[in-house]
Amino acid sequence: MGLNLRGRSFLKLLDFTPDEIRYLIDLSKHLKKLKHTGIKHDLLKGKNIVLLFEKTSTRTRCSFEVAANDLGMGVTFLDAGSSQMGKKESIADTARVLGRMYDGIEYRGFDQKIVEDLAKYSGVPVWNGLTDDFHPTQMIADLLTIEEKFGYLKGIRFVYMGDARNNMGNSLMVACAKMGLHFTAVAPKQLFPEESLVQTCKEIAKNSGATITLTENVQEGTKNADVIYTDVWVSMGEPDEVWEQRLTLLKPYQVNRAVMENANEHAIFMHCLPAFHDLNTDTGKMVGQKFGLNELEVTDEVFESIQSVVFDEAENRMHTIKAIILATIGA
Ligand code: CP
Ligand code: NVA
Repeated sequence: MGLNLRGRSFLKLLDFTPDEIRYLIDLSKHLKKLKHTGIKHDLLKGKNIVLLFEKTSTRTRCSFEVAANDLGMGVTFLDAGSSQMGKKESIADTARVLGRMYDGIEYRGFDQKIVEDLAKYSGVPVWNGLTDDFHPTQMIADLLTIEEKFGYLKGIRFVYMGDARNNMGNSLMVACAKMGLHFTAVAPKQLFPEESLVQTCKEIAKNSGATITLTENVQEGTKNADVIYTDVWVSMGEPDEVWEQRLTLLKPYQVNRAVMENANEHAIFMHCLPAFHDLNTDTGKMVGQKFGLNELEVTDEVFESIQSVVFDEAENRMHTIKAIILATIGA
């Protein structure tokens, strides 16, 4: 029997087996080939999806919109404040209304419980476009990108530097555990992932051959890494007041030339983006002026280097989100 993800929601990678994740990566590769060769694939004509964004987005929103258009679907976009959800109508009621009109619902916002409730009450597939806890659609894009660069996933030495208890740190640890990559979080202890999630991932790792390591030591942690990954030091939804403390904690964990030189010579640099690597953003300028820093989680030199694959990774968001939509709605 082939794999069948029809009717499933995509809320966190923990809900999926390695075979199911493999299926989504392979389907993404196929859809990417169709797109690059100009072969039409409007397999979901006549279907409609709705995108609910309570936090801002470039990649995730555009990926869902382009993917849906390529699949021949109709798309409705609702941002924070433009629907009744939450303020005048409960999540359960909103979900039941949207489930009567749409074939799938994307949600980006705060509590993981909101996206879980949308799935529980809507009766249609719900896709997590990022919550405070997890960013699972990003994971399929990241796994695809690593496989494209190295040709395999199992045994890759994957290092995540920075805020290891945010949605990206959590999700990458789960993704590595499921697919057999050696995951190392290089971060200050205060920003290690939650112990219960670490234990869950260590259990999963027993079956996949993955290992899970947490260290504060940059030199040891990044030695011979194949992938160096980082994310913003302050995530969406966190107050501006945390910047000062976060910078003090994370300054030693910046991805710079020394880190890349300590890694494997073929190492790649990854970032889910957006990234603070110069002063060409409002936040970059604000932090730069206030704290005297020109670059934050990654230096401009590394970001712009040949080892950086961040734009391939960004493109892969679209192909992988298309695969997730297609697999769960079903042609
Ligand atoms: N990586 C990512 O989710 O980007 P956006 O915030 O632009 O969607
Ligand atoms: N940790 C980041 C990821 C952005 C894609 C955030 O939540 O803001």
